Amino acid sequence: MGIETSCDETSAALLETPNTICSHVILSQDEHSLYGGVVPEIAARAHLRRIDDVVEKTFRDARCTLSDLDAVAVTAGPGLIGALLVGVSWAKALAFGLGKPLVAIHHMEAHLFAPSLEDPDAGPPFVGLLVSGGHTLLLYVPVWGEYHLLGETRDDAAGEAFDKVAKLLGLSYPGGPAIEDVSSDGDGMRYHFPRPMLNSNQQSSDKDFYDFSFSGLKTSVATLVSELDSQGKLEDERNHVAASFQDAVVEVLVEKTLRAVEETGCSRVLLGGGVSANKRLRNEFNRKLGTKGILFLASPRLSLDNGAMVARAGAYRLEKENIASLNVSADPRLPFPGLVRVSE
Ligand code: KG4
Ligand code: ZN
Repeated sequence: MGIETSCDETSAALLETPNTICSHVILSQDEHSLYGGVVPEIAARAHLRRIDDVVEKTFRDARCTLSDLDAVAVTAGPGLIGALLVGVSWAKALAFGLGKPLVAIHHMEAHLFAPSLEDPDAGPPFVGLLVSGGHTLLLYVPVWGEYHLLGETRDDAAGEAFDKVAKLLGLSYPGGPAIEDVSSDGDGMRYHFPRPMLNSNQQSSDKDFYDFSFSGLKTSVATLVSELDSQGKLEDERNHVAASFQDAVVEVLVEKTLRAVEETGCSRVLLGGGVSANKRLRNEFNRKLGTKGILFLASPRLSLDNGAMVARAGAYRLEKENIASLNVSADPRLPFPGLVRVSE
């Protein structure tokens, strides 16, 4: 069983084999849209109210009972402490009560495993791009458990940029799907936003060759939005601004990943995290990688936070005998296991 409560999805899943999902329940909290972002205390309380039902329904749907369980995997971090604690406490109680192993999972490692739930070939070696609300990581993964960090964001994560720009444009939370939605009627060439840390003179030895930065891009959008607003043009231009912003983020993500493909000589690319649900990003990767490589992508449901990817990562960690003690706690800054910084 995998349990996920790190942010605003309460989710549980049962796997029959490491790659076969028996049942999967994902409950998204819509309470936060009122506030334009996730409110940690509300998230924790909502997980607490729902986790019993979510886990129970997962067993019911799979026609399984508690005694069928082999192990319990849970996201132990990173994430919101109150939210994480709900899942971790539940998983500990379940594991202790049944005398079964508990496996503590890093949320971003779980995202890496999501595509393999639909395609057993989606494994190393690959260049991995993880893009979520809290992280932007570019990795080279020669084998599971060994994660060479090529680049990461120096400020905002890609998903965070989508969420903040959506807010500037008066769109709802979560910002990613809202921006994708209005962009479909927009002209992405109308405004040219900067492509942060992307220029053709960079060498692979440069520190910013693989790194990302999205906060300046957000500021450029903010400046344009206030100009358009003062001219009374924001309403008409919103879709074009959104599409132009989306194009800028997508271009940076795709180009930096392709640099990694070129430099590592590995043409297998795996995308993970909520932003990888973005159609424009998926299409651009497909177009640019073309027949030169293989792209591994989870379906949108499994790209966003879910319990099945936690169970899948749990199966891997269980096989490695990485069993957690019942003293394990939730850690909002849990280090990525096996992460090795390549540059510096
Ligand atoms: O992985 P995830 O579900 O949760 C975290 O681990 O953070 O990612 C959530 C992030 C949010 O910032 C959300 O706006 C973004 O993923 N996102 C998207 C799309 N769907 C979700 N960003 C761009 N396009 C989307 N379709
Ligand atoms: Zn996530």
